[in-house]
Amino acid sequence: MSPKFYVTTAIYYANAAPHIGHAYEIIAADVIARFQRLVGKDVFFLTGTDEHGIKVEKTAAKHYVSPKEYVDTISEHFRNTWQFLNVDYSRFIRTTEPDHYDVVSALWRKLLAKGDIYKASYTGLYCAGCETFSNPRDLTPEGFCPNHLTPPEPVEEENYFFRLSNYKQAILDHMEANPDFILPAFRRTEILNQLEELEDISVSRSRRSVSWGIPVPDDPEQVIYVWIDALSNYITGIGWNKNEAEFQKYWPADVHVIGKDILRFHAIYWPAMLMAAEIPLPKSLLVHGFITVADTKISKSIGNVISAQDLVERFELNTVDPIRYYMMASTGIGQDGSYTDEEFKNRINADLANNLGNLLNRTLNMLNKYFDGQLPQPDKDVETLARQEELAAIREHYEQYRFNEAIQAMMELVDKANKFVNDKQPWTLHKEDRIQELGNVLYTVLETVRQVAIMLAPVTPMISQRIWEQLGCQGEVKKADWRWIQGKPLVGGQATALGEPILPRLESEIVGAGKKK
Ligand code: ME8
Ligand code: MG
Repeated sequence: MSPKFYVTTAIYYANAAPHIGHAYEIIAADVIARFQRLVGKDVFFLTGTDEHGIKVEKTAAKHYVSPKEYVDTISEHFRNTWQFLNVDYSRFIRTTEPDHYDVVSALWRKLLAKGDIYKASYTGLYCAGCETFSNPRDLTPEGFCPNHLTPPEPVEEENYFFRLSNYKQAILDHMEANPDFILPAFRRTEILNQLEELEDISVSRSRRSVSWGIPVPDDPEQVIYVWIDALSNYITGIGWNKNEAEFQKYWPADVHVIGKDILRFHAIYWPAMLMAAEIPLPKSLLVHGFITVADTKISKSIGNVISAQDLVERFELNTVDPIRYYMMASTGIGQDGSYTDEEFKNRINADLANNLGNLLNRTLNMLNKYFDGQLPQPDKDVETLARQEELAAIREHYEQYRFNEAIQAMMELVDKANKFVNDKQPWTLHKEDRIQELGNVLYTVLETVRQVAIMLAPVTPMISQRIWEQLGCQGEVKKADWRWIQGKPLVGGQATALGEPILPRLESEIVGAGKKK
């Protein structure tokens, strides 16, 4: 039986359409899932939409539709976009689904039975944008929420509270014992600071202020406040309280991929809830930064929202892989990234169209010319360009979620192959009738391209498949195994199939986002 790997994304608020910031997160998770499958794991990959709460309720009202109609449309939009981006998830969860409803109620009862939920009256300032009570200390001098620059609403209600403060020491102990719990490591300090002054949190709202949510069991005047509802999607997704075998197989999650803005909820609230319910904690949180457009926050009001679909149109892409590639290559997990059309075009042309695409194209052209497109039988000791340490380093970068460095190392391998062609000058070997040497050189280059196609497949599955087919390899590269990189070299005699360039150069004028004036 293969070892399991369970990866999740945040669930996206079903109040607005997906943009390239959300895409960045889910592409990272998809790269993780595809890489883990490549190294032989049994992967479960969960994503979905977060559909309850005031924010959704208000947005639906603005559109004159019911919350249910509204979230149906938005969540479909998310599913379509992820399919468009070739995201290969195992389940798309919606928090309005009946099995999630059951999980949230069961979890609530558990926490209540444990004595960790109590009722108290509360006065506070609630920011609907954040779906959380704001700490007066954090507000701007005008009294606005620092994230949304809108005034939070004063709220006075009887609510249920969760004894978060009970778990402070246990969370600290857990972080101490598991230094890889929060990745990258520089994010840990922020949480350690926040743990200093931990207070109990409100986990319900009165039905009068929020009606769109899961009712508190046995107290229908109260609605479960979104974070218990949202976070527990990670256990609903794999059958907690319903399909015990499935749950035992995949839990604990190996990695929750999340943005830096929701770290607190995942590093403090979620572990506390799990401890209260006596469920083991996830192994790690992978915290990414924020994507901006030309250093400007992506926002509807600014009017700079870009989607994956926009990019495909703007650059007349015949595959979404450049979007996936650019996202992973240009912004390391943890850093913030700034998208501009110009950088996108330059990066894709340099790496995929020229460096990798041209290498394959010109080598297959020579193979056609000199060997009728058939791979020659190389010498037994034919040169290989990828050294063992280089391949191991690429794998390690993937394991450690350093996708930009994995890509960089693969591109260096491609550089090496390009240089090899230029140094060996196959055309001269041909002129001098050194046919065996000529065959060796072309073989070595194509074998390197094959290795890169496998290793790059988690990032660029479609382009890797195009390479695979042009090399004359059988089947689907997504079904490949990491061991094939060294274990299944190209076979002499194999017929290749030169085709269109794996990626046409992006030529379109730069008209859109982040244009440099
Ligand atoms: O916070 N760049 O949902 P959400 C990178 N429902 N990542 C971005 C981004 C950007 N510009 N904008 C958003 C929620 N994200 C809750 C989560 S999880 C149990 C509940 C990321 O739609 C953001 O950091 O506001 C988060 O990880 C995810 O998209 C969903 O954000
Ligand atoms: Mg958000």
